[in-house]
Amino acid sequence: MPTENARAFFAMSNLEQGRGVIARYREFLPLSDSTPVVSLGEGNTPLIYAAKLSTRVGRDCQVFVKNEGLNPTGSFKDRGMTVAVSRALERKVRALICASTGNTSASAAAYAARAGVPCAVILPAGKIATGKLLQAFMHDARIIAVEGNFDDALRIVRELAARDDLVIVNSINPDRIAGQKTAAFEIVDLLGDAPDFHLLPVGNAGNIFAYWTGYNQYLARQKSTKLPAMVGFQAAGAAPIFYNRVVENPETIASAIRIGNPASWKQARTAIEESRGAIDIVSDEEILAAQDWLARNEGIFVEPASAASIAGFFKCCGGKKAAYSFEKIPAGSRIVCTVTGHGLKDPDARKIDNIPPVPANIDNVLRAIGF
Ligand code: F0G
Repeated sequence: MPTENARAFFAMSNLEQGRGVIARYREFLPLSDSTPVVSLGEGNTPLIYAAKLSTRVGRDCQVFVKNEGLNPTGSFKDRGMTVAVSRALERKVRALICASTGNTSASAAAYAARAGVPCAVILPAGKIATGKLLQAFMHDARIIAVEGNFDDALRIVRELAARDDLVIVNSINPDRIAGQKTAAFEIVDLLGDAPDFHLLPVGNAGNIFAYWTGYNQYLARQKSTKLPAMVGFQAAGAAPIFYNRVVENPETIASAIRIGNPASWKQARTAIEESRGAIDIVSDEEILAAQDWLARNEGIFVEPASAASIAGFFKCCGGKKAAYSFEKIPAGSRIVCTVTGHGLKDPDARKIDNIPPVPANIDNVLRAIGF
């Protein structure tokens, strides 16, 4: 484990970097002055005004996309991981462990590498997007593939919780939620108040609860005057909260949210009910169409799970059988959609059209361009 010298190094490197959610929001986080900070400069992700999405709602409503794919390991998990790994380092644990659909493991592996702590990731065999698996591999995590789904992996990790030399860095660790709530702080800091609606994908259900916690803390500190309605979207084939029952064999192209028994189910329900929001489903076809739409029309490439919030947004605008309709929301409402992970993480979710080569001369190239 790192020595006092290593602590000084972490303090220095974070000072130089001047970024990261702990540096920015320490007063809201469960850290003492002596907690060594393990950061990769996470957070401060773009909140992008989306003119074309705003037009869809009409009536001067404004839609923003919070692009969490631009965190250091390409997903929102880094916000919570910096807090969880810093605290683990303070407690001098022997190793980190997590179950994951991919992004948590990529993030845990990276922060563990930076901290100099071993990390084991328990993954559903054959169900992890290539980019995410490569990240865990490159950061030298111990990768264990189980013959089962994410819910099986998390059950095993929970059973290991009894050991006090291992720290679980899944979102059942409250330090993860504490770090993730900083995304809500950033939104309020930029907009000057909380938005009216917040849309996001739901898998293990930690993130919807983290945002809700963040919005509430800022309201209590009078940094905002209102709370948004939280509207979560699950993939139709992996929608236990929507159907109110465990899904034994969840299936969806959005492998990040392929979860049948979410750990923060109750907390997600609380966020949805207290905020007078909703939980809804989107099909794999809607998810892929939204992924395409966002890439082609707003220049933002997200992984399929992230596109669930955009697919959900379209559903709310369409009104047809949506759990939440935007048809009658007040003029000038502000809507934030979180996109959670970068599109490059999951290259196999899409197929590239065949690109027949042309002879290397201007005429052929111009003919092939066609416009
Ligand atoms: N979007 C992405 C890209 C994710 O990786 C996840 C969760 C979610 C949305 C859902 O967030 O679980 O807080 O409701 N991924 C976890 C993982 C389960 O292991 O990487 P949630």
